[in-house]
Amino acid sequence: MSGFSKPWGFGPIVLGLAATVGVIAAATAVPSAQAPASAAGAATAGKPAGPAAGVSTGKPTAPAVGAMAGKPAAATTASVKPVTFTKDVAPLLQRSCQNCHRPDQAAPMSLMTYEDARPYARSIKAKTTARLMPPWHIERNIGIQKFKDDPSLTDEEVATIAAWVDQGAPKGDMKDMPPPRKFDDDDIWHIGKPDLIVEIPQNHVVPAAGPDVFIDYIADSGLTEDRYVQAVETKPGPGARTVMHHLLTYLIQDVDQEEKLVGVDDVRGGTTETFLNEYAVGKNGDILPEGTGKLMKAGSKVRFNIHYHSSGRETTDRSRVALKFYPKGYKPKYHQISLQIAHADNQLDLPAGVVSRSDGYYRFDKPVHITAIQAHMHNLGKRMCLEAILPTNTTQQLNCMGWDFNWHKVYNYADDVSPILPAGTVLHSILWHDNTAANRANPDPRNWRGYGQRTIDEMAFAWITWSNLEDADYKAMLAERQKRNSN
Ligand code: HEC
Repeated sequence: MSGFSKPWGFGPIVLGLAATVGVIAAATAVPSAQAPASAAGAATAGKPAGPAAGVSTGKPTAPAVGAMAGKPAAATTASVKPVTFTKDVAPLLQRSCQNCHRPDQAAPMSLMTYEDARPYARSIKAKTTARLMPPWHIERNIGIQKFKDDPSLTDEEVATIAAWVDQGAPKGDMKDMPPPRKFDDDDIWHIGKPDLIVEIPQNHVVPAAGPDVFIDYIADSGLTEDRYVQAVETKPGPGARTVMHHLLTYLIQDVDQEEKLVGVDDVRGGTTETFLNEYAVGKNGDILPEGTGKLMKAGSKVRFNIHYHSSGRETTDRSRVALKFYPKGYKPKYHQISLQIAHADNQLDLPAGVVSRSDGYYRFDKPVHITAIQAHMHNLGKRMCLEAILPTNTTQQLNCMGWDFNWHKVYNYADDVSPILPAGTVLHSILWHDNTAANRANPDPRNWRGYGQRTIDEMAFAWITWSNLEDADYKAMLAERQKRNSN
């Protein structure tokens, strides 16, 4: 089904797709973007550059600060009016940064007080303007924009931070300072009392200093009968948050016909791996919608995909995932499916010094409700766009996202915008790899790269969480959505 058997540079992409249009701009903007710290940074930072945003959204374009399309007024006003830490900046740091930037969490410094933040003012401006912080790589000028747990800053908020720094990072009046944000106790399971907790099979000791470690642990779940997962939450062992850069869990189990559904894409040597859960600071775990479950089979295993980062203090981790099940014998109507699909792996051909495009496709045989999306590439990964090709042969833009191998992020759609698509829809993934020297994550831009399992090889696919719907429910959900949105 592959329409693009050859990897493309940016030149030849002149199809009339919104996604494609956005991409050309990103590509052309990258060389001039201010030293992005990562591939994802390049993609996201490059995006503002104007014309594409205008073309794809139909709005007029705005040159501007770190401006995403169309909001020059706010940026200008913000840079003129006096901005202080206590009044304007502290609320933003509380909402979008302190989850990680507080004592005993993964970020390198605290941003709780003025005294904490002041020495980092310039760096804060640089990272927020380039949209490297908070780590959130959904592009803002294209596709669906409502997600759960979205910490990202609006264009106005980015401009406010920049204006604060430009004005000398003043403190302001302490009576403007919002009360400190309260954080949950790290030991709480937000999903309630778990029925099963699975841990990595051994303690992992992260030395006080050392290179970042990317590691997979596979643990037996110990489950002796098939059960349906109702809620799931993943977290580092007690006291190990400071070394936890990212942590994701996946289920490994033989999957029967009912679960496997369509295609051979999802089979990995007899076992199938599905995404289970992402740990992210401040996230409350995943509680599946009533009537929706994920089958966890007797004898299943759990893979923990972990990025450890030394914190200056030797730290021992025993990461774990907690599961709550539906009552025995209860069979949820809808199965939550999370699979690697729309692979472009087999066409990865990434010449040295070039940004290459690859395409993957996956056909949904039933109507579907998509609830979460994730990209997967390695160090050369730069950006992924997803669009739905409907049976009517029109396309619907889902999202574009930057990629940074340091942050394996899962994006959960807000309930009122998660895509509901008809049977026969083809998911089209478009993935870009940057094998040039401009990609700072590139270990060696002189080498050709292709597909493989090693970290220095490349991959290219989408990781999608969805439910297959019965026709009647599909129609009902769609009707309800349309009614709600027209109010
Ligand atoms: C999900 C956790 C997380 C969130 C949320 C987050 N950061 Fe970070 N931040 C990190 C980590 C981890 C690093 C260390 C660099 C890296 O690994 O990417 C970092 C690095 C930084 C740095 C560079 C520090 C240096 O050494 O100069 C700055 C500045 C920064 N963050 C600012 C912010 C601001 C401002 C926000 C909110 C608008 C924010 N971060 C939100 C995790 C986070």
